[in-house]
Amino acid sequence: MQEHADGCHVTDTDGNTYIDYALGYGPLLLGHTPGPVLDAVRRALDLGLRTGGVTAGEAELAERVAECVPSAEVTTFLSSGTEAVQLALRIARSETARTRVVKFRGHYHGWADSMHVANAPGSDDPTTTGQDPLAAENVILLDWGDLKALNETLDDTIAAVITEPAAVNAGCFEPEPGFLEGLRRATTANGTMLIFDEIITGFRLGLGGAQGRYGVNPDLTVLGKALGAGLPISAVTGSRAAMRPVASGRMLHRGTYNGNPLSVASGNACLKQLANSADVLYPRMEAQVTRLAAGIREAAERLAAPVHVNHVGTCLQVFVSPSPVERLTDTIGLDKEAVLELSGLLVERGVMTLPRGLMYLSVEHTEADIDDTIWAFESALDAFTHGTTN
Ligand SMILES: Cc1ncc(COP(=O)(O)O)c(C=O)c1O
Repeated sequence: MQEHADGCHVTDTDGNTYIDYALGYGPLLLGHTPGPVLDAVRRALDLGLRTGGVTAGEAELAERVAECVPSAEVTTFLSSGTEAVQLALRIARSETARTRVVKFRGHYHGWADSMHVANAPGSDDPTTTGQDPLAAENVILLDWGDLKALNETLDDTIAAVITEPAAVNAGCFEPEPGFLEGLRRATTANGTMLIFDEIITGFRLGLGGAQGRYGVNPDLTVLGKALGAGLPISAVTGSRAAMRPVASGRMLHRGTYNGNPLSVASGNACLKQLANSADVLYPRMEAQVTRLAAGIREAAERLAAPVHVNHVGTCLQVFVSPSPVERLTDTIGLDKEAVLELSGLLVERGVMTLPRGLMYLSVEHTEADIDDTIWAFESALDAFTHGTTN
């Protein structure tokens, strides 16, 4: 149980301290205690809770998003990523007067029934019991990277294609060269809106997110996680034309906590800090991820451990697999229990990852943290593979 945190370190109720790579499921790109963010939230608190109204901070945050994210002109704010995905789909349906949506297998777009299907590669089913089996009736599932299937599927019933532009949830896969460009061309030609779900990749794969990194602009972008630096906020952004249904008021966009002033204050402070030092922060974090990945690979090879890693931007995925995991479909049938066991061994050695092996970097991780983490991996992999402890 976590008691308090400082930078990228978390201390539990027994006084044990861990290097944190779970980072609250990703939002804590600036770590747990970013001074400017905490100060901004305290200042906002002093003005009263003010939820439910429009504040100047919202306009400022929309401007900051437009400065960072290449395709952003008009932005609207919500509280969670799940909600923002639903809003993006509604905008696409409103704008195109079409109903069906293409989703890719293994991608995650939140827990609402219509999108909470085919999250695990190898199964097209709803992800949990209790989901409405009819909610995803208008969702067409395709394999990520298969432009031929996409081109055969697109017709005048398809409002949107939604994708994680880099498949972080499925295991930190970059798009194949030309795939995002192909998606862009095919959707434009078909009058279908292209939605990038940048809930993870936004501000994580660079200030401009995945679209900045790969140079492909979607019609609509969904943002969350790092945007709020730990407070709950999400956004849908896009060109003026794409955001017409919201801006014109012809489509309803509801939500009691939309644009909550505390979250907006946090978002403004976060984007200000990232924009001011992007040239230093992103290359440093990516170099650290690359060094960490190399250290884990080297240890796995030396210890003959069946462990492989992928990384993209500031995200790294550990797999327990006899061979490299190069494509999303390579994850079908991988041993999830083994990854859970490895993450438990890492916790015993002072390193917290997400239990499924996903690790996020923050600006607070130091070279010493990376050294300590590589050491923890060496020891954990030894115990995992040979049952030894050191
Ligand atoms: C790519 C992606 N989309 C959407 C979501 C849903 O966001 P939230 O958990 O804030 O509802 C997540 C959450 O992890 C995500 O990774």
